[in-house]
Amino acid sequence: KVPGQHEYDGILYLPTTPRSHLESIKNVRFTSEDLLVATFSKSGTTWCQEIIYLISNGVNVEEAKSRPITERVPFLDVEINWAGITALKSPKLLKTHLRPHFFQTQILDNRVKAVVVMRNPKDVLVSFYHFYKSYHMFGPFPGTWNEFFELAKNKQLIYGDWFDHILAWWAFRSRPNVFFLKYEDLKMHPRANVAKLAQFMNRDLTEDEITKIVEATSFNTMKKNPSVNYLKTEDKRNNFIRKGAIGGWKNYFTVAQNEYFDDRYEIKMKGSGLEFTFES
Ligand code: PPS
Repeated sequence: KVPGQHEYDGILYLPTTPRSHLESIKNVRFTSEDLLVATFSKSGTTWCQEIIYLISNGVNVEEAKSRPITERVPFLDVEINWAGITALKSPKLLKTHLRPHFFQTQILDNRVKAVVVMRNPKDVLVSFYHFYKSYHMFGPFPGTWNEFFELAKNKQLIYGDWFDHILAWWAFRSRPNVFFLKYEDLKMHPRANVAKLAQFMNRDLTEDEITKIVEATSFNTMKKNPSVNYLKTEDKRNNFIRKGAIGGWKNYFTVAQNEYFDDRYEIKMKGSGLEFTFES
């Protein structure tokens, strides 16, 4: 367990997201051009943050590199970011791992936009495991992969259960102000998906601008870019941008874990129409 984690409405949060902050978030007033990158952890949040930032700043790659992503597209859930976030001018670009009920009225009233990035949950879990293992702020997770898997099974991970999280957002799929993007689609068809994101943000990009964004946000470029690697902040998670691959879960899941997970997927996601690519 992460030291200091706490439960609010049945979901675990980090100590940096205290109850009082969660309650304040429910009262934030957005504008129709403010945009949330709303994800379950480890689903391609940072990648999408960088893309939408470049779309919003006129594809100025140098300017983007000059400041950490934590300043450019701050993490709403962390209380110490609060003053900075309220001081930001609109349109605000924000990252969140919260579920949609925090923003429900505003989503329904078109008062905020959301890009929901979703990744196949097996790779999400493996990425989250590595994140837990290297998480310095609260001490690295001392357990094994099997122990981590048990935490996931019992909804004991920070931000709770992937299925519940995704289904809660997926319920908003008919909203014009909520855009769903799959990590695997972005990986396989970056140009088309960058163009769709720009369209969602009411921006026109030239073919050259799309090329610039795709190059600046490729895995290899981002891995070398300190402004998206948390190297400029106090938090030196060097392997934050780790593998960036589809299908790495195969090296971790046992046959039994995979069967359990497939069964659970079948039960939980039945009728949702939501399918993922599990291998490249
Ligand atoms: S967080 O902490 O929730 O904000 O993490 P998040 O950014 O959502 O997810 C981190 C994973 O995304 C991978 N990543 C990328 N993949 C492909 N291309 C690019 N440009 C890219 N940038 C980040 C990162 O490597 C983590 O996945 P894993 O599987 O651990 O490598």
